[in-house]
Amino acid sequence: MATDLILQAVERAAVRCREFPNVSARHHDIATDDLDGRFDLVFCMGVLEQGPKPGQLEPIRNRIVDALEAGGLLLLESWRLPPEFENRWWARRFHSGARVLHDRFLEDGRMTLVREVPSYGDSRLASLLQRTAESRSAEGTSSSSSAQRTSISSG
Ligand SMILES: C[S@@+](CC[C@H](N)C(=O)[O-])C[C@H]1O[C@@H](n2cnc3c(N)ncnc32)[C@H](O)[C@@H]1O
Repeated sequence: MATDLILQAVERAAVRCREFPNVSARHHDIATDDLDGRFDLVFCMGVLEQGPKPGQLEPIRNRIVDALEAGGLLLLESWRLPPEFENRWWARRFHSGARVLHDRFLEDGRMTLVREVPSYGDSRLASLLQRTAESRSAEGTSSSSSAQRTSISSG
């Protein structure tokens, strides 16, 4: 499933992927809408830095982590601040830069870091995270959902 806030991007993705019956494109606002389904991979590139307002990042994180299957993978890729700025209080307060954005996902006790790599030189950061493989019954949800894939952006 490919998603985007911009309807035109969703329509273009649907046209470009029409020969792939297992791919669907949906209009979706990650700031306000739950993800419909459970996924074994969520790919979120260049989206988080598009400006979730303070207060929106935590619900976005919860929405994405909730939608991951146990053991599922999350690939985040975002702009970095220069290293001397990325741990400043204002970067944390205003969710500026990949370090702060990606760390917020690790603050969810269900996520662990698999690997981090710089991309585009050192200007961006790609972080691969994994949802711990706790049992679904502990959450009161079904374990019967089939594996799917999603991209939380278009391109
Ligand atoms: C910089 S583009 C990245 C597109 C693609 N992932 C890439 O790397 O080329 C950011 C995308 O995020 C989408 N976006 C921004 N805010 C969003 C939101 N709240 N919910 C869903 N998509 C959003 C934009 O419409 C845009 O298509």
